Amino acid sequence: MLLTGTGRLAPIGLSPWALRIEGGRITWIGAPHEADDAERFDLGDALVTPGLVDPHTHPVFAGDRSDEAAARLEGAPYTDGGILRTMRATRDADDGTLEALVDARLRAALPAGTTTVECKSGYGLSVAEELRHLRIIRGVADRLPIRVVATLLGAHAVPPEATSPEGYVRLVADEMIPAAAAEGLADFVDVFADAGFFDLAAVERIAGAAAAAGLGLRLHAEQLQRTGAAELGVRLGATSVDHLEQLDAVGVTALAGSGTVATLLPAPAIVLRDRLPPARALLDAGATVALASDANAGTYGGFGTMPLIVGLGATLLGMSVSEALTAATAGGGAALGITGLGKLEAGAPADLVAWEADHEGAFALRLGAVRPHRIWVTGREVPVAPV
Ligand code: NIG
Ligand code: FE
Repeated sequence: MLLTGTGRLAPIGLSPWALRIEGGRITWIGAPHEADDAERFDLGDALVTPGLVDPHTHPVFAGDRSDEAAARLEGAPYTDGGILRTMRATRDADDGTLEALVDARLRAALPAGTTTVECKSGYGLSVAEELRHLRIIRGVADRLPIRVVATLLGAHAVPPEATSPEGYVRLVADEMIPAAAAEGLADFVDVFADAGFFDLAAVERIAGAAAAAGLGLRLHAEQLQRTGAAELGVRLGATSVDHLEQLDAVGVTALAGSGTVATLLPAPAIVLRDRLPPARALLDAGATVALASDANAGTYGGFGTMPLIVGLGATLLGMSVSEALTAATAGGGAALGITGLGKLEAGAPADLVAWEADHEGAFALRLGAVRPHRIWVTGREVPVAPV
């Protein structure tokens, strides 16, 4: 199949352009020429980009914490009480209820041009509940035309029934991770490595269990306090360290010299009125940067908002539009460790979006209001709003 256009192919900026898709992958990109492809689709002057990649979301939860967000904006602190409140509401929700909630949250992604979403568990906090939540992610992923990467975030907070934080870390490492891996329910393990949540010793213990189980590692790092979790992630070979609001110059240098992606989450930083992560310094130092929504129960509730996140990268974080778009496509692909994902190159998965826009500058100008016109996932056209 050959796609052609007279508009912009971004972020590489090719125009006019042609792109061949075979076996679900891009096999060639270049200038249009006479070709004998049986199937040809001309996308006219639409802006075309790789499908957006959202490499950090928490979609499995019940309940609502809007009241907590309002109270925080009047000065209340952010503590583990919020996560435990969501844990209670989520444990109380039956499979059908939770499935419907996850389905609606994942369904919001495609109309926002997002073709890959990472989904974390993390509001169950027991072996049975975390596995139940991962099974729900897999069930919903199997029936939607979107690429899903699943992450076990058992170490999100210490549940009230745990006799000690150390005992809960042992449960995560010795039981939860092996059980999730044995059932093939997760690609990655994540840890909320921050003050008041899990310390660096816990990260080491859990990372060891993840490696033994053949699962990748990603971390919530340097969000609330500068703890050194970013450097520990680098040392442990984490695929990505996420948040980084409190990262300093030393941490920037460590990430720039590593294979670990810096995934930045501007939306919860704004909702928490926190510092902004050092996007410009990371890019200037040569780090691989990704952007993600971090849609979750307590610090940012916007599922299906990656066009807004690209816009915030460009306006708030000091990135160029092209850098922000790259971070939300190839950066996300790197943050999920999927070769070629989000890139416009031969061999990359053929996940593409034709937008109702002419130029990628629309992501900044329209802040959240850029919409897809047509979408392809693995070379197949899918409905913008699947039924
Ligand atoms: O990524 N920081 C940790 N976890 C989530 C928020 C979880 C919650 O408050 O429910 C986040 O921001
Ligand atoms: Fe998060």
